Amino acid sequence: MSRIAYVNGRYLPHSRAHVHIDDRAHNFADGVYEVILVVAGRMVDEEGHMARLTRSLRELDMGEPMSDAALIHIMYQTIARNRVMNGMVYLQVNRGTAPRNHAYDKQDLVPTVVCTAKSVVLPHDADKAVGVKVITRPDNRWERVDIKTVSLLPNAMAKTAASRAGAYEAWLFDENNMVTECSSSNAWIVDQEGRLITRPLGLDILPGITRDRVIKLASEHGIEVVERAFSVDEAKNAREAFLTSTTSFVKPVTQIDDAVIGNGHPGTTTRTLLAAYLVFANKIAMGEAA
Ligand SMILES: Cc1ncc(COP(=O)(O)O)c(C=O)c1O
Repeated sequence: MSRIAYVNGRYLPHSRAHVHIDDRAHNFADGVYEVILVVAGRMVDEEGHMARLTRSLRELDMGEPMSDAALIHIMYQTIARNRVMNGMVYLQVNRGTAPRNHAYDKQDLVPTVVCTAKSVVLPHDADKAVGVKVITRPDNRWERVDIKTVSLLPNAMAKTAASRAGAYEAWLFDENNMVTECSSSNAWIVDQEGRLITRPLGLDILPGITRDRVIKLASEHGIEVVERAFSVDEAKNAREAFLTSTTSFVKPVTQIDDAVIGNGHPGTTTRTLLAAYLVFANKIAMGEAA
């Protein structure tokens, strides 16, 4: 089946879905986006994603392109037209199209709205999860990475470096060798006492929707969560490590650079949280959770 994309009011074959060369996202990466997990045709953590989108738009002085209800309608239409049961839906809002000029005039701009959806095979057995290797790289992004913008060049460079090194992800560290997050996910460790540690929210990490969900699931499972920065060295000596994102779920990390984490296999806490996340996603699928 050929894929269908939504662009500015029209549902088009993917190959014919275009935005203008003077779209400000093309010239200035002037746009924001969300990626939402779809399970059994339903969006997971829709509320959190819409709240983050609204915040991203506000922080960048961009207007709302339409109501949340209208955006949600477009996403569900795109999911349905692509016959996605399990997968993800991608929504991007750009500031608009205008002759290339750094400064923008809000009055002249109509936001560009793009939506795509695709199927993905979801993991279903936490015990079969395989650990991945990550590398570490300096975090050289701008100072407002809490905003989910399409300005992702440093992330793309870091992820490519990881890929070339045979690794799944790049964990980024700040000027004090403290881990911020990963190129497209949030970073976590489990200390020797079994506490879950992840960097607190701030301007220096993206407020991951999966991160938020995992914090809630951890407390439901009696796992203590400590939101504090941790160093690359601490991560290498941790009992367990993992990363989270909409598309990676809870992914065990068993090697950071040359250091093997724990016994080299996904740890108990990581597997518990992945299992809890899968149960939660399944409840969404059954219409049992919001
Ligand atoms: C830099 C970065 N951090 C964290 C995340 C995880 O966010 P979420 O759990 O909302 O997918 C992403 C997801 O794309 C990301 O790009």
